[in-house]
Order: sequence, then C-alpha cells, then structure tokens
Amino acid sequence: MAQVGYSKKVMEHFMNPRNVGVIENPDGYGKVGNPVCGDLMEIFIKVKDDKIDDIKFRTFGCGSAIAVSSMVTEMAKGKPLDEAMKITRKDVADELEGLPPQKMHCSNLGADALHAAIKNYWVKIGKIKPEEAKPEGEEGEACSTE
Ligand code: FES
Repeated sequence: MAQVGYSKKVMEHFMNPRNVGVIENPDGYGKVGNPVCGDLMEIFIKVKDDKIDDIKFRTFGCGSAIAVSSMVTEMAKGKPLDEAMKITRKDVADELEGLPPQKMHCSNLGADALHAAIKNYWVKIGKIKPEEAKPEGEEGEACSTE
C-alpha cells in the first residue's frame, strides 16, 4: 500500500460521514459501480420544488469513496436539480482539498451516483427518456485499490 497524503477534510469526512443511510421510497435513486475495484455507491434523493430536499448515500467502497459520497451529498443538498447535475468529480475533489493522485478516480462514483439519482427522477416525471438516463462513466478511469 503506497503512502499517500490525505487532506484533513478527506479524513474528517471519512471519520464522520454526513448523510449516510437510505431513504425509503426515494424520488430518485442512483447506483453506480466501479468495474475494476468492485466498489459500489448508492444515492437516494427526495425532491421538493425542483430542489434536492433530502439526500442519503450508502457505499461499499474505499475510504476516499466514503469521503467523496459524504461531500457530494453535502454539496447537493438544497440545490436545484439542474445545479446539482453540474457538480463534477473535480468539484468534489476540490472541495475535499484534493485526493491523492491514485485516488482521484474514487471521486467518479460520488458525482456519477448523484447524476444517476437525478436522472432516475427525471425519467419518473417524464423530463427525459429512459435511454438518456444511462450512466455517464468516465472513460479510461481505472480504479486502483493501492
Ligand atoms: Fe474504488 Fe476508491 S472507489 S478504490
């Protein structure tokens, strides 16, 4: 295992993750997995007035994935759906004051699961077609567990 430097913010969110859990009957649900490391993330949202009223996550992932999910839920909570949709993995990593280079890919899961949950909701309300809700995925981003 390589020695890597985690920011204080990453450590803090890893130790005290926000918005952990499940929302029963969510308005939107997103589940994404990383095919290489097998890490998995689920995001549940409740929508009110076109904003994310509540958000929870569950992850079977590495420490960075936990910190990323915690951060992405904090960033998205209360935001209009259109704005939450624009949150990128880089935004999440920046907000966490960076991730070690080998762990940058872990931020994919957070943003992807959030986007999947929003698209799931948009399909339900007929704003987009089911085929438009396919997960984006970041091409060529292998996930390493080192
Ligand atoms: Fe797979 Fe971090 S998300 S190692």
